[in-house]
Amino acid sequence: MSELSQFREFYNRRYSESEQRREHAEIADLFSDAEEYALSILGDISGATVLDVGCGQGRLTRYLAAQGAMVIAADISLVALRGITAMSAAGNPDLQSVFPVAMDCHCTALPARVCDVIVGQSVLMYLDHLTFFTECKRVLRNGGRIILLEQLARNPLAVAYRRTLSVHGRHDLRYFDLNEVSWLEQHIGPTQHREFYLSAVTLKFLARYLPGWQMHGLLAHPLTLLDAMLLDHLPFLRPLAWMTVLECVRL
Ligand SMILES: C[S@@+](CC[C@H](N)C(=O)[O-])C[C@H]1O[C@@H](n2cnc3c(N)ncnc32)[C@H](O)[C@@H]1O
Repeated sequence: MSELSQFREFYNRRYSESEQRREHAEIADLFSDAEEYALSILGDISGATVLDVGCGQGRLTRYLAAQGAMVIAADISLVALRGITAMSAAGNPDLQSVFPVAMDCHCTALPARVCDVIVGQSVLMYLDHLTFFTECKRVLRNGGRIILLEQLARNPLAVAYRRTLSVHGRHDLRYFDLNEVSWLEQHIGPTQHREFYLSAVTLKFLARYLPGWQMHGLLAHPLTLLDAMLLDHLPFLRPLAWMTVLECVRL
């Protein structure tokens, strides 16, 4: 079975399991700063054509549509896309300008230069980066932007978590590395990035080993504050962060 089919099957199964979705959402809530920052740099997207790559169950898609964007919600998982279509059919007014499309983000079949913005969250690890970014360049208009919230490759705690507890087992995923920014600068255009979370990754272990423990939320604030301070004042630590928000402008 190809790698793409394995990921598709994995996510079709996962999106059918509502309990896992709920747990995932609870942990994701502890790490909201990065997402808030990513949304803040979107700016005014009213009337823009936005491609949400690896949209999953459409959390980001719904936000984008509520801001007035026309959203192409792309994913390889039909189960995920069916969920978005069902919400739209149920009359959710925010979803009237959403077009769910089953497609592989390496080769989208979209016409050239149709998108104003390409957004994505936690999808790069499943993609061949050069093929994907080359496709982004093709479908973006000049001056269009890519905004991604992604996990980085080198955080020691995240690496330990992936090796021991990852839902993907031993499958090697392609986490982004800040070394790749120079390729983006050279082949697509000016790129900015901001990193999040060093020590706060311990919360993922705690959430896994002590589910239902009430202290996660209390610990999240001091740890993320400490991490933000360290990443701000000690730039050499940034490649070791857990997440990055990338913003790349297509020239
Ligand atoms: C970790 S989930 C993230 C979902 C969503 N962005 C979110 O943050 O909730 C990764 C998503 O990427 C999708 N995906 C993986 N490989 C893909 C590909 N080649 N093309 C499009 N989507 C893909 C998966 O089906 C899955 O829905």
